[in-house]
Amino acid sequence: MQLFSTTVTDEAIARVVEVLRSGFLNEGDVVKAFEAELRAFVGAPHVATLNSCTAALHLCLEVLGVGEGDEVIVPPQTFVATGLAVLHAGARPVFADIDPETGNLDPQSVARKLTPATKAVIPVHWGGAPVDLDAIHAVCDPAGTPVIEDAAHAFGATYKGRPIGSVSRFTCFSFQAIKGMTTGDGGAIACLDEADADAVYTRRWFGIDKRRITPNEIGERTALIEALGYKYHMNNVAAALGLGNLPSYPARLQRRREIDARYRAAFAAMNSVRPLRVLERTQSACWLFGVRVERRLDFARALKGRGVPVSVIDRRIDRHPVLGGLTPDLPGPRSSMLSTSPCRCTTSSATTTSPR
Ligand SMILES: Cc1ncc(COP(=O)(O)O)c(C=O)c1O
Repeated sequence: MQLFSTTVTDEAIARVVEVLRSGFLNEGDVVKAFEAELRAFVGAPHVATLNSCTAALHLCLEVLGVGEGDEVIVPPQTFVATGLAVLHAGARPVFADIDPETGNLDPQSVARKLTPATKAVIPVHWGGAPVDLDAIHAVCDPAGTPVIEDAAHAFGATYKGRPIGSVSRFTCFSFQAIKGMTTGDGGAIACLDEADADAVYTRRWFGIDKRRITPNEIGERTALIEALGYKYHMNNVAAALGLGNLPSYPARLQRRREIDARYRAAFAAMNSVRPLRVLERTQSACWLFGVRVERRLDFARALKGRGVPVSVIDRRIDRHPVLGGLTPDLPGPRSSMLSTSPCRCTTSSATTTSPR
């Protein structure tokens, strides 16, 4: 049994075939239509699709003008892309601690790591469970530090009744192959401000905002590039997958939430297997189901022996030399975390941890 399964619906396949037959594979009307659906889904006034969440994180930092000499606070409990995006921008990732109960960034630790050089904070909704955004904003807003949510796992999650994507200045999503909602590879930035959205649209395609250039009398589109841009846009093929997969996503999400609830009920009686806590008045996107156990590897071996797929998904990323090496003031091992991908109600499970 595999830990992750990829869902591509019949509707998505039909839409992709339609795009392939159309001959217009590049970024076009299908991308626009997908973006309109995403705006409604995440409740943000602006959504720009991209070719990955990594690109999304980098672009947000670029739009904020983050660069050399700047610091960006990130959690160690995440995928390496969160930290690499900071390096892509030329800045230094600074690691704040996580709350071991939730697996998400600890706002108090963020407060301790803020310096005049901090130009952004990137909280991660690990596994799909929202970080305490009110507490993060209570620390960041008075300091004027923008929050870029890494919601790679959290498409469809809600925080105090608000969809993830509608709360912070920037929210980045991933539609990579094994995410709950996939476009094969892909990502998106949800922005609250029009000026930010304009900057994202411009920089995602070589520094040219395609929405703002009109062809001249011989049909050529020319524009003078003023801001450094990238080739980060989504194309019609990926967007067709997204448009076709999206309508059934809420039902799949609901199913995962039911399975998540069954896991929680089953583990409630056990002291030795402690699920990561999901904050009150939040709903996880249930991409991963994290638990903490002692003797993680023995536990994983035992599960594997019973045919349950397990994997240490995300180990603390500050251990990578490229990201600076282990952060001296962050504690070492506590207990180990394990998680499951709640797409099956039986047994699939993964191990994950931030400890060394
Ligand atoms: C927390 C987190 N952030 C960012 C990314 C990068 O997403 P993408 O593969 O779409 O670039 C991932 C990928 O899984 C992730 O887990």
